[in-house]
Amino acid sequence: MKLLVCGGAGFIGSTFVRQRLLEHGDEVTVLDKLTYAGREENLREVADAPGYRFLRGAIEDPDAVAGAIEVGRPDAIVNFAAETHVDRSIAEPDAFVRTHALGTHVLLEAARAAGLRYLQVSTDEVYGSIEQGSFTEDSPLRPSSPYSATKTGADLLVQSYFHTYDLPAVICRGSNNYGPYQYPEKLIPLMILNALHGDSLPVYGDGMQVRNWIHASDFAGAISHVLEHGAPGEVYNAGGPDECANVDVVKWIIASTGAEESQIEYVTDRPGHDRRYSLSSQKVRALGWLPRVRFEEGLQETVAWYRENTWWWEPIRSGDYREYYERQYGKSLG
Ligand code: NAD
Ligand code: TYD
Repeated sequence: MKLLVCGGAGFIGSTFVRQRLLEHGDEVTVLDKLTYAGREENLREVADAPGYRFLRGAIEDPDAVAGAIEVGRPDAIVNFAAETHVDRSIAEPDAFVRTHALGTHVLLEAARAAGLRYLQVSTDEVYGSIEQGSFTEDSPLRPSSPYSATKTGADLLVQSYFHTYDLPAVICRGSNNYGPYQYPEKLIPLMILNALHGDSLPVYGDGMQVRNWIHASDFAGAISHVLEHGAPGEVYNAGGPDECANVDVVKWIIASTGAEESQIEYVTDRPGHDRRYSLSSQKVRALGWLPRVRFEEGLQETVAWYRENTWWWEPIRSGDYREYYERQYGKSLG
């Protein structure tokens, strides 16, 4: 296939691009704005792969999108481009509205004009929090943060383009991802790097919030599956095989890094914090997809990756991220 992958320099997008180029032999054009979270070095492994092309540009810029379609001549657009951190959406929601609402609209118009398939990468957070059981694709949408509300808006716009214009669009909603190349503002890489540096480990509230962890390679595989086998107009949930309370995730990281439990610091809770996420993936499983990586094993491998790949995180942890950390946590990194 020939793909235009928007947001392909981010954590999950780059995992997907590596898979498509190296395992499927696709042609891939990446269009990415390179925000703080987008890093060309995430694609270092495929920089010389035949069929790979990188373009810097924003999805809300119609000229950048038209230019990418002109040079890449894709069969489909896969959209990962997003602002993705809930805490940043609480502090500064503007970019979330711009990228998710305006950006998705520009991509949908471009897909319609060029007659392309469209896949929107989405999240379990559109359903809100669930105390017991798991969300299916028919569960009501009850987003609670500016991040999840704007992702929900984008999903609804995608569905409207299927209903109104017959655009062959699909949506794939993932649960919490983890793995190599995840920007360290997120729970797992933040805790691994703080544990390795002897910094405190900031757990929000009582730490009993539950997340349904999926390895990014499994989510990228689900997105491929939906792209190839999904029915137009449909939504597919892809949840990981395991659920875990935040404080238990932190304790596993402490055990595998040799840090001390005394590094845990319970800090003020996130406003509007969702208690539990859980996805039923029966629909995508019926298409033949299965997650491969169990959480305990994937977490060990992820800790090892961060230990070994200082080249990747040192420039991040010594740059703007330090200022973000001070603003968010009211203390400096060691
Ligand atoms: P990320 O923050 O690591 O990467 C986002 C990428 O999008 C970056 O490369 C960034 O430069 C790019 N980008 C941002 N705004 C852009 C714009 N306006 N135009 C072009 N590029 C832009 O995010 P991620 O964790 O890889 O998430 C990718 C997608 O998966 C998002 O749509 C997110 O909502 C979804 N998702 C993430 C998770 C998770 O746990 N991380 C779970 C489910 C779904
Ligand atoms: P996060 O990685 O931000 O993902 P999401 O908000 O999309 O679930 O957070 C995962 C969980 O970890 C969430 O319940 C918030 C919690 N958390 C902390 O307790 N401390 C932290 O420093 C961070 C970043 C998250």
